[in-house]
Amino acid sequence: MATASAYDDRDGFIWMDGDLIEWRSAKVHVLTHAMHYASAVFEGERAYGGRIFKSEAHSQRLLESGAAMDMPIPYSVDQIEKAKADTMRANGLSDAYVRVLAWRGSGPDMGVAAARNPVRMAVATWEWGAYYGDAKMKGAKLDISKWKRPSPETIPSHAKAAGLYMICTMSKHAAEAKGCSDALMMDYRGYVAEATGANVFFVRDGKVHTPMPDCFLNGITRQTVIGMMKDKGIEVVERHIMPDELEGFEQCWLTGTAAEVTPVGEIGPYRFEVGALTRDIATSYEQLVRGNH
Ligand SMILES: Cc1ncc(COP(=O)(O)O)c(C=O)c1O
Repeated sequence: MATASAYDDRDGFIWMDGDLIEWRSAKVHVLTHAMHYASAVFEGERAYGGRIFKSEAHSQRLLESGAAMDMPIPYSVDQIEKAKADTMRANGLSDAYVRVLAWRGSGPDMGVAAARNPVRMAVATWEWGAYYGDAKMKGAKLDISKWKRPSPETIPSHAKAAGLYMICTMSKHAAEAKGCSDALMMDYRGYVAEATGANVFFVRDGKVHTPMPDCFLNGITRQTVIGMMKDKGIEVVERHIMPDELEGFEQCWLTGTAAEVTPVGEIGPYRFEVGALTRDIATSYEQLVRGNH
């Protein structure tokens, strides 16, 4: 039974296949291909003061994710931009989360192959605060996941595709059951990769280290924060990081559209301080996204 705050039971409008429709009517049939075979790609974006941060980069990535899945999305970047702006306006939002989803719908095919089924798209937006609650101040507590980020030879690992989140959901459930707010995942080679919905950075002796994104999402926030640090003259090393190096890092933070810049206080048995550099990067990112830098 739907609760008052269930995501399918709210007031407002959702953009679906070209039209703004009443929120509760934005439904799909149970024989939707994506429900059975994970043929879905999506974006998570944030608007600050009515402006979606890096909006076009997100729209572009959505199209690339669709292309990587042999699922051409029948809209241009400009059309996606307009759909997002129209949805924000219809819902009267200015500080909001924006979710764009494209998926293989129902059609003549109901099996693994589905090239004849339409690729559909929807945009929903809602008000949203900090992803990790009060972790912004204290530092988030992370579990270490038993699941590994897969090799790019086994799955299109740079796509923001629904199927890649199966192990993220399981990892995050396990983490939350232990009182953690997220989990750090290693990759198929054993290197440190990322959290379940965010990239990770470490600090040692004033230098910043972050895993090479060669089998996971090179986040738009990650790229923004690396650029910001280079402008500040901070040395950033992108490389393979072994789990036993966690012991020697002094500070750690996560980056992501949802996470923004979130300090990390613990990963499994390892402890980190919410230090001056972490706070500086978090503050600079907030100023950047709000356009008052
Ligand atoms: C698995 C994963 N890694 C990294 C990120 C960070 O990406 P971005 O900064 O583009 O939001 C996200 C969030 O979208 C994610 O889901």
